[in-house]
Amino acid sequence: MHTYTLTSMTLRPPTIASPRVAIAGATGYAGQELLRLLAGHPAIRVAAAMSSSAEARRVPALARIWDDEIQPLDTARLADADIVCLALPEHASAALGPQLARAGSRVVDLSGAFRLRDDDSRAMWYPDTPALPEGTVYGLTELHRDAIASAAFVSNPGCYPTAAILALAPLAAAGLLDGDVIIDAKSGVSGAGKKPSERTHFSEVHGSLSAYGVFNHRHAAEMEQGIGRSVTFVPHLVPLNRGILETIYVRLVPGAGSADVAGVLGAAYADAPFIRLRGDDLPDIKQVAYTNFCDIGWRVDATTGRTVLVSCLDNLLKGAAGQAVQNLNLMCGLDERAGLWR
Ligand SMILES: NC(=O)c1ccc[n+]([C@@H]2O[C@H](COP(=O)([O-])OP(=O)(O)OC[C@H]3O[C@@H](n4cnc5c(N)ncnc54)[C@H](OP(=O)(O)O)[C@@H]3O)[C@@H](O)[C@H]2O)c1
Repeated sequence: MHTYTLTSMTLRPPTIASPRVAIAGATGYAGQELLRLLAGHPAIRVAAAMSSSAEARRVPALARIWDDEIQPLDTARLADADIVCLALPEHASAALGPQLARAGSRVVDLSGAFRLRDDDSRAMWYPDTPALPEGTVYGLTELHRDAIASAAFVSNPGCYPTAAILALAPLAAAGLLDGDVIIDAKSGVSGAGKKPSERTHFSEVHGSLSAYGVFNHRHAAEMEQGIGRSVTFVPHLVPLNRGILETIYVRLVPGAGSADVAGVLGAAYADAPFIRLRGDDLPDIKQVAYTNFCDIGWRVDATTGRTVLVSCLDNLLKGAAGQAVQNLNLMCGLDERAGLWR
């Protein structure tokens, strides 16, 4: 396994000279995180940051990080940047994404609007989405690096699917999984965005724990697309600000054991700086919150083949803005860790 150090990061000249990135949705939870990361990025410059507001405004939490005003949405100004990041609600991305693609912009879309490749599935879960823009790539960095580097349109993965697919896709591809896949997920409330609802406001969430979206959460379709198997996905809302922990129940094919899981995941992520394989030291949310890491641990019952994997990440970083920066780095020809390694 590689050891990654700050000094091992080579900040090669980007393939796009002085890349300029614009952000739509910069006042949202994911967009603010993205703006923070890009404002401190060693090579990428923020060309513009925009929100839905009709007035230009400053965000107090971004003082001395990004002191320019957040501007009203302006498609022509967005299109002027080398790459546009959309951190918008699905319906807004569904409208703006294709428009920018037609104008020749490269786009990283953080919404779910363009993640599902199957037309029927997309029509069911994202009815506002038109056809996928030409050359749309699913932006799970560790699994699609080469395609992302040259993509015109990157659909950044969902937070829950990132944790699940990173843990399961290599095992499924290696033929190690047998039978049902059950994904029991817990998420902090920032996963639902900044606008409170009856389900997400403080007095509903504080001191409680609830399951939601059982058999009708659109992230299940994204997980199935990424893993190539059907899944039972049960998300829960927990009284935390940020972070996702997924406890994943699977069975291994007869004869397979913990060493096979370690071998397959180790090979898949040998060159993945943001994946930390933890073996039987199961990860928790505190260890990944405010980082771009996805930590994956597992335990296998040698007599039955019953296996539990635990996959953990920060929904706003590896689950959204951090992964978007990884993808931007690849699209600009930069080290994947630039602006994220701390
Ligand atoms: N939160 C997460 O953990 C997470 C993880 C992965 C992916 N995502 C996805 O990322 C996207 C943003 O999520 P979020 O949680 O950051 O949402 P959010 O907190 O609700 O922020 C939404 C942002 O979009 C702007 N906006 C809303 N409607 C708009 C419109 N019609 N035109 C232009 N701008 C508009 C808002 O501006 P105002 O401030 O002016 O309202 C705000 O800046 C969503 O598609 C979400 O599914 C979120």
